[in-house]
Amino acid sequence: MTRLGGVERTRTLTPRTAVIWAVLRAELDRRAGEQLTVLDVGGGTGGFAVPLADAGHRVTVVDASPDALAALTRRAAEAGVADRVRAVQGDGDALAGLVEPATVDLVLCHSVLEVVDDPAPVVAALAAALRPGGAASVLVTGRAAAVLARAMNGHLDVAAALAADPVGAAGPRDTLRRRYDADGATALLAAAGLAVEEIHGVRVLADLLPAAVADGQAAALVELERALAARPPYRDLAAQLHLFARRPA
Ligand SMILES: C[S@@+](CC[C@H](N)C(=O)[O-])C[C@H]1O[C@@H](n2cnc3c(N)ncnc32)[C@H](O)[C@@H]1O
Repeated sequence: MTRLGGVERTRTLTPRTAVIWAVLRAELDRRAGEQLTVLDVGGGTGGFAVPLADAGHRVTVVDASPDALAALTRRAAEAGVADRVRAVQGDGDALAGLVEPATVDLVLCHSVLEVVDDPAPVVAALAAALRPGGAASVLVTGRAAAVLARAMNGHLDVAAALAADPVGAAGPRDTLRRRYDADGATALLAAAGLAVEEIHGVRVLADLLPAAVADGQAAALVELERALAARPPYRDLAAQLHLFARRPA
């Protein structure tokens, strides 16, 4: 188990989480001693919310799924942080009506902008929820990795559709409405007035390796993922892109 300044008390870091926690830890360290107000949009069962509450912060999770929120509530209770976690059922597309403007220090929006009706108003609502100087942690699915994965599985037609589609979706059977590259995701956040400070690739290699390698050399893989995450071209081929942005003070 790797400890991250008290945030990761119980959780093993994985290629899916290590880079994001490293970025969040830097922000938490920067604001050490403060109890932050955190909003996790589409926070699901609390994979980030509960460790953040465990570190002493107050976290509101807005999610569309009652089942996910029920699991979040159980998980928060088991971790002894129920008093610092608030579960709100709601649609990210209607976020503006659910959150007081300029009340949040840190907003998370992980794996949600791919599925909402329209990402622009959601990002505008994230930005509006932040206090000036507050930070946003945004995780989106990468288009390039999806094109490569479909091609490597022999689905060249799907790879071609994904590469050509204006928003990186592959037709009506695609489970996602859109995918991103670093420039497109940066532009989306910038249009809402958020200044992107860092971009990292998440799962640059993890999804490409045989399970025996990923499982057998788990710690080495996490280290390599962290080493490559900020470096193009590796960053841009990652399964997901993590953007850390700030509402200007
Ligand atoms: C892939 S999960 C990600 C969960 C969490 N953010 C994470 O990274 O582990 C997506 C979550 O977004 C929620 N979700 C999907 N569409 C949503 C919407 N329109 N508004 C709010 N939540 C939504 C789902 O219920 C689910 O919990």
